[in-house]
Amino acid sequence: MSPVARRPRFVAGNWKMHKTAAEGGALARELVAHLGARPPCAVALCPPFTALEAVRQALDGSPIGLGAQNLHPEPRGAFTGEISGAMLAAAGCRYVIVGHSERRHGMGEDDALVARKLRAARRDGLTPIVCVGETLSERDQGLTADVLVRQIRSAYDGLAEAEARETVIAYEPVWAIGTGRVASPEQACEAHRIIRATLDRVVGAGAGANVCVQYGGSVNAENAPRLFAEPELDGALVGGASLEAASFFRIVAAAAAVV
Ligand code: 13P
Repeated sequence: MSPVARRPRFVAGNWKMHKTAAEGGALARELVAHLGARPPCAVALCPPFTALEAVRQALDGSPIGLGAQNLHPEPRGAFTGEISGAMLAAAGCRYVIVGHSERRHGMGEDDALVARKLRAARRDGLTPIVCVGETLSERDQGLTADVLVRQIRSAYDGLAEAEARETVIAYEPVWAIGTGRVASPEQACEAHRIIRATLDRVVGAGAGANVCVQYGGSVNAENAPRLFAEPELDGALVGGASLEAASFFRIVAAAAAVV
């Protein structure tokens, strides 16, 4: 065992726009069978809205958590096509992904909207998984730290330490998402340290050490053990490799292995 107390590890599957209700229920049942009554670390599944109920049923009685991929910041109202945090909580969700780069860059979500969504999730009793990360051009221009500091500062400004502790951050470099080009453990660690140092400055000294920071971007069963050898990585937000029970199970097992 490392002499330094380890933060608990947490692996979440972001299914993105994959799986119908029937397919999602089947995958969740397979995962429950693989992981048993006591998964080796915290695990959550984030299916599309339409599969939430089928996955909730499949996870019934299992400690595997249910999460959504997005929410609207307002609790209710004339927002056609949107879903509120209260609706997600009532549907059995414990988590919600906020500020994923596919929404920041594909759907025009800015830092201010991400901050509102983080607060809406907290208001409705959900744990937000707040995604941050630089694009390839930002990295190439040496702007990675600037981007991470700006995104964390905007999202967490004004939050109390106890509130920040009840959130999860996913460092997802945009260039690593869905590309097969995983960040090196050193690149991920460097970004995680910037994120924790920023939390210390914005939320309060010591905040960074208490927040779960996942890595996301081309995590698979093969590279997971190398990534998780770093105590700096508290888990992973997994896209493609979470769509198949066997690979997701191997990632969870790697996360839970004692380093
Ligand atoms: P991939 O694991 O498919 O690269 O996706 C990562 C991601 O965006 C998780 O939110």
